[in-house]
Amino acid sequence: MKADFVVDQVRGDTGKGRVVNYLLNRDRYTHCVKAGAGVNCGHTIYHKGKKIVTHGIPSGIAYGIKSIIAPECFLHVRKFFEEVEYLEKNGIPADKLIKISSSVHIITDDHIAEEAGESVIGTTRTGNGPCARDKALRVGLRAENVPEFKPYLIDFHDEIFDEVNGENILLFEGAQGYHLDLGAATYPYVTSSRPTLAGALLNGVPHIAIRNVVGVCKAYDTYVGAMKFQGDDPILDEIGKLGFEFGATTGRKRAVNFLNIAELTRAMQVTAPKKLFVNKMDILQQVDTWKVRLGIDQILDLKTEDTFKAFLAEKFPNVEIIYSYSPEHI
Ligand code: IMP
Ligand code: MG
Repeated sequence: MKADFVVDQVRGDTGKGRVVNYLLNRDRYTHCVKAGAGVNCGHTIYHKGKKIVTHGIPSGIAYGIKSIIAPECFLHVRKFFEEVEYLEKNGIPADKLIKISSSVHIITDDHIAEEAGESVIGTTRTGNGPCARDKALRVGLRAENVPEFKPYLIDFHDEIFDEVNGENILLFEGAQGYHLDLGAATYPYVTSSRPTLAGALLNGVPHIAIRNVVGVCKAYDTYVGAMKFQGDDPILDEIGKLGFEFGATTGRKRAVNFLNIAELTRAMQVTAPKKLFVNKMDILQQVDTWKVRLGIDQILDLKTEDTFKAFLAEKFPNVEIIYSYSPEHI
């Protein structure tokens, strides 16, 4: 078995869906796998010219390959069926392609109700934290306990290790990002799952199966939640507007700041991708502003696109950096 991992290097919303699209069109894969998280994430894809947003289901479903919700994911039963119906209506044979690992934990309506009020950390209110808590307390409900899920259930281990009909090549689609990991420095402004590369391996993937790690970030940073994040420069508001920085799950406005090089470096050191996609370069081109942050508040003005690229190339000399300017480019 071989596995490629798409890992967001920041805080989600970097355009992983586009990268998954690019990889599925270029390489042969047998499965697309949602590596972790609940229905808090939103994967935006363009299928036959139409914008499609999935939450609990991996975006790779649109490319006609078997798609799996891995053991580390959380799923809400009604929302799952609504998503399948929505995809079917949009011409994607989701019912046939989607499989659920039997040990996926179930987000209940009670979990969602618990998060209904104002959240101190600004969650997506999709019941993710309470579901993760119940999993850790060992009182959670799993997919195998849900009768309606029976036709979709698989044992993830058996599925990926069954290679009688040829080698499995898995594409893992990460959710959120490295700096939203439960263990990240900005705790408690994090999610309750593990969106790092290690989190993807927790599904039961042997380390020797790792073929490629593909990193994804944007030319600037965004974040949704209660932590102070928006930078002072008024151009950042403009970037947010041009980049249409609103949450795919909650519609909330995302806070915007310049790319934090210290954070990106940390994520790159740990996840060690061979390729890094830098999305939304077109937005910085439109405002012609090429600034990065060296730490929380120290801004470096690189002045031109070429210097911006040269700076990243020098920071990450062993990484192939792929710049993307619009969906058509990747
Ligand atoms: P939760 O995952 O709903 O508990 O939210 C915890 C934090 O993670 C909040 O700041 C959310 O906005 C953020 N978050 C969760 N999922 C995503 C995502 O897919 N993209 C961006 N931020 C996310
Ligand atoms: Mg997203």
